[in-house]
Amino acid sequence: MLQENLQQLKNRALDEIKKAGDLNQLRDLEIRYLGRKGELTKILRTVGELPAKERGRAGDLANQVKQALASEIGRVKKSFGEKGEGGVGEKEWIDVTASKMKDGFGHLNPVSTVQYELEDVFSSMGFMVLDGPELESDYYNFEALNIPSWHPARDMQDTFYVEGENLLMRTQTSAMQVRAMEKYGAPLRAIVPGRCFRNEATDARHEHTFYQLEGFMIDKNISFANLKAVLEVTAQKLYGKDTRVRLRPKYFPFVEPGVNGEVTCFLCKGKGCRLCKNTGWLEIFGAGMIHPNVLRAGGINPEKWSGFAFGFGLTRLAMLKYGIDDVRLFCGGDIRFLGQF
Ligand code: DAH
Repeated sequence: MLQENLQQLKNRALDEIKKAGDLNQLRDLEIRYLGRKGELTKILRTVGELPAKERGRAGDLANQVKQALASEIGRVKKSFGEKGEGGVGEKEWIDVTASKMKDGFGHLNPVSTVQYELEDVFSSMGFMVLDGPELESDYYNFEALNIPSWHPARDMQDTFYVEGENLLMRTQTSAMQVRAMEKYGAPLRAIVPGRCFRNEATDARHEHTFYQLEGFMIDKNISFANLKAVLEVTAQKLYGKDTRVRLRPKYFPFVEPGVNGEVTCFLCKGKGCRLCKNTGWLEIFGAGMIHPNVLRAGGINPEKWSGFAFGFGLTRLAMLKYGIDDVRLFCGGDIRFLGQF
């Protein structure tokens, strides 16, 4: 009777193992037959209750069935790819042609693209690429840049202040000028790409968060000619060989003299179009010779050294390059906007 039961159970179990479609089903079968409360285990427990002379044979048979099932389950498991000890499943394989990119590739934000392009250009001219704090002190953002607290220029760059701490969200990457001078001294060549903040009534051209790229070069006998040469090379790398740079006087407290930098409009090549408002020129940076007060704040002797500084609006460059007409789109978080570039 017991022997018959065992035989039937074995056949049924082997049949089900053969039909198992995956590892999970196999594991279920293993539990159902061989587990602590499994069918075979239950039968094995009753062996002890048999008359002594039947016990031996029944016990042997039950153990044989148990082993047969265990080894069959093991074999099929392996063929489904479950790794044995230190081994690899027979059916384990990698489809190198399979595409995992169902949802498409991600890509750089247009501001990053422009930033990396400029980093390449300036690195090739020996400039370091520096990073600076976005939460900055009043000192480095204004005071050290020749903008004392009473200075009217402060009104042009209102920002977000941390109460009582003399800290603010930096309004310009120029804030890194004096920090870099203190750390590296002269001679010095560096650019500082980064995020800036202003308290703006936002519109299509103004945003509370935007990107700039500051740069400066300090050495012996640095003149306005060096400033123009470096920025001309940069503009030509960005917009092509025929690009020209035009400098027109503009006041910035931390440079003397200071200029607005314009380049030939890359869209109409200087003929005049909608992008350049028919002037043929695009205004893309501010620049000038570093004010002696700023050099002094950085511990550099203005009698011995001189330098120029410039600041690009990275966000503005990206808007021009990609024809983006509303600056608020950059921080708007709309993936459909970013997906276009
Ligand atoms: N930081 C200025 C701004 O945000 C831009 C600038 C102008 C930077 C002249 C400079 C500079 O280094 O020399 O408007």
